[in-house]
Amino acid sequence: MNAKGQDIQRLMRKHLVEVATYSGVDPSEELARSAGISPDEVIRLNANENPYGAPHEVVEALSGLTLHLYPDPEQRRLRKEIAAYTGQPVERVVAGAGGDEIIELLLRLFVEPGETVIDCDPTFGMYSFSARVAAAELVSIPRRDDWSIDLEAIAYAAQNSAKILFLASPNNPTGNSVTEREAIQLLEMGLIVAIDETYYEFSGNTLAHLIGDYDNLTILRSFSKWAGIAGLRVGYAIGSETLVRHLIDIKQPYNVNVAAEAAAITAMRISRRLLERADSLVQQRRRIERAIDGIPEMSYYPSEGNFLLCRFERKQSRQAYEELARRGVFVRLFSHPRLEKCLRISSGTPEQTGKLLEALADIA
Ligand SMILES: Cc1ncc(COP(=O)(O)O)c(C=O)c1O
Repeated sequence: MNAKGQDIQRLMRKHLVEVATYSGVDPSEELARSAGISPDEVIRLNANENPYGAPHEVVEALSGLTLHLYPDPEQRRLRKEIAAYTGQPVERVVAGAGGDEIIELLLRLFVEPGETVIDCDPTFGMYSFSARVAAAELVSIPRRDDWSIDLEAIAYAAQNSAKILFLASPNNPTGNSVTEREAIQLLEMGLIVAIDETYYEFSGNTLAHLIGDYDNLTILRSFSKWAGIAGLRVGYAIGSETLVRHLIDIKQPYNVNVAAEAAAITAMRISRRLLERADSLVQQRRRIERAIDGIPEMSYYPSEGNFLLCRFERKQSRQAYEELARRGVFVRLFSHPRLEKCLRISSGTPEQTGKLLEALADIA
């Protein structure tokens, strides 16, 4: 690094100089290049994306948009549609640029530098990443062997003045959900409980009905997976009126752009068809489960999402990852020590599942 570079780093906030880039998924061209195959051979089962793509109604809704005017900072139309879709009053919903932005807004609202944020490890990496960016203290509480949460350890951290807990349900990558009983125990601890229901449309389970009883509950949702618009970045939070009002107050005024807004509204209008697609992805996950049942060297953890955490008994995950990649199948590899024999596989179309199963039979 030259002297100039060091100079500006000295001026940066110290905790941010050390933050490493979040490792998101690479574009298909990059995956193809790394595996030495052509981009059209890539089967992307590594980001829990919707393999059916955006529905044509959504694509059509994007043409003819008024692009020279700012979107509505109060998100009136979008929030009204989300309220109808979720059965919540409009005062209890606010949208963000993906669930990712909601995570950041919650940290901005609740967490001072040095205050404690809890997640239950292994889990979605954006909680710890965003906590680091917020200069928060992260307490990562290990899940038990069956990936259930450790309520006692969370209670201990909560008593030691933790501000907020992020809990994905179903959890990415383990696939299991939190029970209502566990959630109530967490809520009774008094900290902010952010239940991340990004995979709600696949699991069918929600805790949103508890919001009237618990002001400290907030639910995160996303349009990325079930609605097939991950590229447009739309998510939302459901919470008490007070919580939502403050989230609206502190968000960037135009955080959801006009294309994202139009796409999300259209997706909700055709939700019945999109939910059928979500069901078909659950069917594909079950097909993968059945196939793995017949492979002695492999097992999986029960999942309620559009993905499955698989385990290889006699292989390290990196080897399995590379063998699958050579066959054009890209899945999610983790560096986490508890996942060194595991890969997370997203549900694909029936054709993609067919190719995945052939590849698995080949390498197992
Ligand atoms: C548990 C969980 N929460 C949130 C997100 C982020 O979703 P979005 O695309 O809406 O930012 C993901 C994406 O993979 C996820 O797995």
